[in-house]
Amino acid sequence: MTGNSCIVLPDDYKGYNLEFFCVPRHYEDSLESILIPSGLIQDRIERLARDIATNLGREPFAALCVLKGGYKFLADLLEKIKQCYRFSAVNSVPFSVDFIRLQSYEDDHSTGKVKVLGVDGLSFLQNKNVLVVEDIIDTGKTMQVLLEILEKEKPKSVKVASLFMKRTTVSSGFRPDYVGFEIPNKFIVGYALDYNEYFRDLNHVCVINEHGKEKYSKKNCKLSS
Ligand code: IMP
Repeated sequence: MTGNSCIVLPDDYKGYNLEFFCVPRHYEDSLESILIPSGLIQDRIERLARDIATNLGREPFAALCVLKGGYKFLADLLEKIKQCYRFSAVNSVPFSVDFIRLQSYEDDHSTGKVKVLGVDGLSFLQNKNVLVVEDIIDTGKTMQVLLEILEKEKPKSVKVASLFMKRTTVSSGFRPDYVGFEIPNKFIVGYALDYNEYFRDLNHVCVINEHGKEKYSKKNCKLSS
């Protein structure tokens, strides 16, 4: 089995100054730094895809994307898994794609409650190899709730791929099977990760600054969720 280790960004890692990359003008005043440029994200996903395809071997699987934050990771990951299959003479299996929506955050903190939206009928996962695709693991509570829901459907196996994992003292101890980057305990946005629904339209993964937190806070703006 390959793929349990990941790229670790240390606590003192500063990332890149905004002036070195293109970010949308409307977000320039709200970001502290670029933590991970989009090119590096793609390169890392390419390797995760290879690890996943290798470990699955000839087993078909059911990809389950956790919305909304996981949608870009899902799309890029599956595209790269398909590439692995195209170039492989032995490994090439069909997969299905489904979505589940979970919500637990307001501003930059967890509300402590995980809202599950759109879980009618997960019975098709029975006896399947499920690959859960998530954007980020923070405390691990969201994933715990989802894994409990999935267990009831009696899947053949469940593996979790998360692009990011935060180093935090309040972690439940949950560790995904595949992790792209372990990051310091900072609130990140971009590559579909949001702050009150903003910043999904930013390609790089960035650290939001205090001005951005205030400007896009729940009380100051209302983009529908
Ligand atoms: P957990 O339940 O504490 O592990 O939180 C996981 C969920 O919280 C993720 O699916 C995200 O939706 C959200 N989240 C946690 N940290 C961040 C962050 O830094 N940026 C954006 N969303 C985050």
